[in-house]
Amino acid sequence: MDQKDKIFVAGGRGLVGSSLVRALKSAGYVDILAPSSKELDLTDQAATKKFLRETKPQYVFVAAGKVGGIWANNSYPADFCYINLLIQANLIHGAYEVGVKKLLFLGSSCIYPKDCEVPIKESALLTKTLEPTNEAYALAKITGVKMCDYYRRQYGCDFISAMPTNLYGPGDNYDLKTSHMVPALIHKFHLAKIRGENSVPIWGTGNPRREIIFVDDVAQACLFLMKNYSEPGPINVGIGEDYSIKEIASFIKRVVGFEGDLTFDTTKPDGVFRKVMDVSRIRALGWRPKVNLEDGMRITYDAFASNFNGL
Ligand SMILES: NC(=O)c1ccc[n+]([C@@H]2O[C@H](COP(=O)([O-])OP(=O)(O)OC[C@H]3O[C@@H](n4cnc5c(N)ncnc54)[C@H](OP(=O)(O)O)[C@@H]3O)[C@@H](O)[C@H]2O)c1
Repeated sequence: MDQKDKIFVAGGRGLVGSSLVRALKSAGYVDILAPSSKELDLTDQAATKKFLRETKPQYVFVAAGKVGGIWANNSYPADFCYINLLIQANLIHGAYEVGVKKLLFLGSSCIYPKDCEVPIKESALLTKTLEPTNEAYALAKITGVKMCDYYRRQYGCDFISAMPTNLYGPGDNYDLKTSHMVPALIHKFHLAKIRGENSVPIWGTGNPRREIIFVDDVAQACLFLMKNYSEPGPINVGIGEDYSIKEIASFIKRVVGFEGDLTFDTTKPDGVFRKVMDVSRIRALGWRPKVNLEDGMRITYDAFASNFNGL
């Protein structure tokens, strides 16, 4: 990728996309397109084709999509499937039509089967059934990975797919109903601190283990893969380590400065016991994350607290 190349970051105003735009700018790239969904609705095929024809980007990062936590995924499966399928199909086919040099499609660790061996290897894809609560989103994302492979096979397009684990960082969705675990915990602890509450309830036993990665590390991994990797199939992006939910919650509690207790609502389900990615392939290529949990969480909480404007 040359610093003067035109780069389209689809979803460039979102959590991952905005981090990608920052990373590209600080690496000296100057011609970056990052329209909002209001400026360009990527579910609109004609509008997406017109944009690609008029702008002719050389590189495309697909960081646009409908994203949410378990509740949102489980409540709106039709929307999660339809919107993600449309966005990625319009971008992947459109990129082929205008001769994009390389495209990186972002999926997620939830494309892997619910009961696969941990750490989760890329080869686990499509070997067993999916977690039912996010099946619609996962199926759409699996189709995106497969479309990249099919366009590579049939048309020789250099389209690749990166699968980040759960991520967190500034600019996340903090809506308590639709957000992922980390932003939801940050929001709950912050509210409990300013309301002077004694405790914060956590869903389940707190024993399940999860991997989390700071968003700027994911953006750096995407840049690295765009420059150094050209193969079919997904490649995992993670830290390769996991923490119990109790550990993650205690950590956030400390960063937020909440002095009350954690309580565990064991009437709520725990979900999969352990979810951590096998990151040996990306490590072997020479990439590893740089931001530790302490620094990443402090940056994230500071950004949240400085934008917080309601109880
Ligand atoms: N968040 C995570 O924990 C996580 C974990 C693993 C993988 N990922 C991957 O990262 C990708 C991005 O996630 P994120 O967390 O950055 O999500 P996000 O913060 O919700 O951002 C999604 C982006 O998609 C754009 N978008 C949605 N619908 C659109 C439409 N119809 N037309 C144009 N743009 C549209 C949004 O644009 P506007 O803001 O302008 O509306 C936004 O910029 C996901 O698709 C997923 O593959 C995320």
